[in-house]
Amino acid sequence: MTQINQEAINNILSRRSIRRFDLLRPVDNASVKIILECACAAPSANNFHPWHFVIVDKREILESMAELHPYGKMLKEASLAMVVCSETEREGRALKYWEEDCSAAMQNILLSANALGLGSVWLGAKRGSDDLEGKLKSLLNVPQDIALMGIAAIGWPLETKDPHKGIDPHSLHSNKW
Ligand SMILES: Cc1cc2nc3c(=O)[nH]c(=O)nc-3n(C[C@H](O)[C@H](O)[C@H](O)COP(=O)(O)O)c2cc1C
Repeated sequence: MTQINQEAINNILSRRSIRRFDLLRPVDNASVKIILECACAAPSANNFHPWHFVIVDKREILESMAELHPYGKMLKEASLAMVVCSETEREGRALKYWEEDCSAAMQNILLSANALGLGSVWLGAKRGSDDLEGKLKSLLNVPQDIALMGIAAIGWPLETKDPHKGIDPHSLHSNKW
């Protein structure tokens, strides 16, 4: 039998959205670097790597982001945010899979944060009808032609949650739907 890397499986199952962070405990640069390396290791259509990451650790910017985001109040306590942005075209040609690429990068951010003992939560940028993405982009000086896909709020966790368990039976289809 092939050997199972149970630690890797447990890391996936134990990743939960953490929304309470220890404001007073910073995340060290070495951890930030590991998380970024994992983000850049995500699969990417045509290997285009369209992603860009804006690392925000200035308290006043995190607070402004929290003010803008209707479901992002935890950014006020997070040690940092990784804002996942993307090119959507290159040399005049649309990059069809930038959202998938960035989602894979985001998932790697959350999983690597969990492996480091950090808490994190994915914040979408399409919430509400008030151009949240546009407002966040202008706050962070993201160029017009770059999309802002989502935000990972990251910090030392002040809450614990049970790991995921089991398979959603309604999601499962055998051979054909
Ligand atoms: C695209 C996307 C957008 C999300 N946006 C938010 C958000 O704005 N605020 C928030 O607190 N959680 C957000 N979440 C986290 C989900 O609420 C969370 O993943 C879900 O409740 C399942 O919980 P778990 O991550 O602990 O398994 C988002 C997740 C995804 C995938």
